[in-house]
Amino acid sequence: MNKIKAKFESLAALFGFFMIYKKIRVGKIFDHWYKGQKKSQALQDIYAEVYGTDYNEEIEPGGYIGMGELKYIADHLCIENGQSLIDLGCGRGGPGMWIARETKCSLTGVDISAVGIDHCKKRAIDFDLNGQTNFYVGDICRTEKSDSSYDGAISIDTLVLVSDKLAAIKEVKRILKPNARFILTSWEADLPFAIKDYKVMMQNAGFEVEEYYEISNWKQRQLDVYAGILASKKRIIKEMGKKDSNMFIREAKNTSLVIDHMRHILLVARNI
Ligand SMILES: C[S@@+](CC[C@H](N)C(=O)[O-])C[C@H]1O[C@@H](n2cnc3c(N)ncnc32)[C@H](O)[C@@H]1O
Repeated sequence: MNKIKAKFESLAALFGFFMIYKKIRVGKIFDHWYKGQKKSQALQDIYAEVYGTDYNEEIEPGGYIGMGELKYIADHLCIENGQSLIDLGCGRGGPGMWIARETKCSLTGVDISAVGIDHCKKRAIDFDLNGQTNFYVGDICRTEKSDSSYDGAISIDTLVLVSDKLAAIKEVKRILKPNARFILTSWEADLPFAIKDYKVMMQNAGFEVEEYYEISNWKQRQLDVYAGILASKKRIIKEMGKKDSNMFIREAKNTSLVIDHMRHILLVARNI
């Protein structure tokens, strides 16, 4: 029974089945995830080996994008010195903080995981961003920010976990200034409950889609990370502890069952 429950939860985590969970549960799952990530050198080593020169240890990503995608996002945000960026589902904050430092913009990060936000606040010092950031626990569907208040928005590998994706996208549109860019990465899938085409959804929400593509080599990299986690299972459990390593091992085991139906995409949209 427990095995079936574990499998179901992992698939749920992938495809936004979280509509049947309370939001607090997503936050709690990621609280363990981030506690585990912080404790584990094994995970860093796996990412470094799989991503090679496309990996930057400083970022400690919570998702599956490399430096190539991150630089592309920074370039396409069209954000300038002194402007404002919001990172929706910022996790432990690495991708957003790297972009903020590169572009010299101010950064707001929102995430449903209190542990993720706590780590962001501490890591801002490592990124030399003290005074330039504001991180808070919240839901990306209700940011509580004013209309037209940001010059750019990113959401890296987060929307897959949000049950009402259209509500989240409309919320981003509301808080962005006219012409501001929203850049997202997420997974599409030809599976029930999953989004098959983010481009259509973004257009329906009133964005102009400027770029939209499947990230190159994503599947092999993701599978290689999973293979690394399973091969280093003992070391990971030792470093993270059983509770905090649980989701890493479950995801590594179960995602390969459905990965052939998935596409990891990057989309650049302009608020019109
Ligand atoms: C795969 S992680 C990616 C984190 C980060 N963007 C990165 O790339 O390192 C997804 C994040 O989305 C957050 N999340 C999921 N649903 C959310 C929601 N409704 N509101 C805010 N954050 C959410 C999770 O807590 C988690 O931190």
